[in-house]
Amino acid sequence: MTVMPVIHAPDPRLQVVCEAVGCVDDGVRRLMDDLLETMYAEKGLGLSAIQVGVPRRIVVVDVAQRDGTPEPMTLVNPDITAASQERVEFDEGCLSFPDLYAMVERPASVDVTYLDESGAVRELHAEGLLARCLQHEIDHLDGILFVDHLSALRRRLILRKMIKWKKARLRDIA
Ligand code: NI
Repeated sequence: MTVMPVIHAPDPRLQVVCEAVGCVDDGVRRLMDDLLETMYAEKGLGLSAIQVGVPRRIVVVDVAQRDGTPEPMTLVNPDITAASQERVEFDEGCLSFPDLYAMVERPASVDVTYLDESGAVRELHAEGLLARCLQHEIDHLDGILFVDHLSALRRRLILRKMIKWKKARLRDIA
């Protein structure tokens, strides 16, 4: 398993609509392992393949690790088939926006269909943090970032902070 470099916003790669996976093969399973390894190394609750530059519809999440018991989930071609009327706010972050958070309103619960690591069709009902995480990661597959749910003003503010952060980082490397 390999920890891969995470792409930081703003970056045009984070805006592409990712391709569906045709077949869950060993290559896809290897990528899932690398995504999990990267997510744990970066202390994230979720990660999508496009965040390491792979434009395919694959996400990994683990919301249980906060309690100390890892429960990795890997989802291929995930699709939200139903969302609750009830919406909730949550202070959301993203590994592509290190240390930046913002309140984002989303449906409280969702139904998701996906393929598991063996290629079998699965369905799940998610609430709470898992529902939040899955919606955030599935957004990534359509090139949508959490800042896209904010007002234009707040989005610009966060993107400006990211540009500054990236410049400072480049200076540090140079
Ligand atoms: Ni994210």
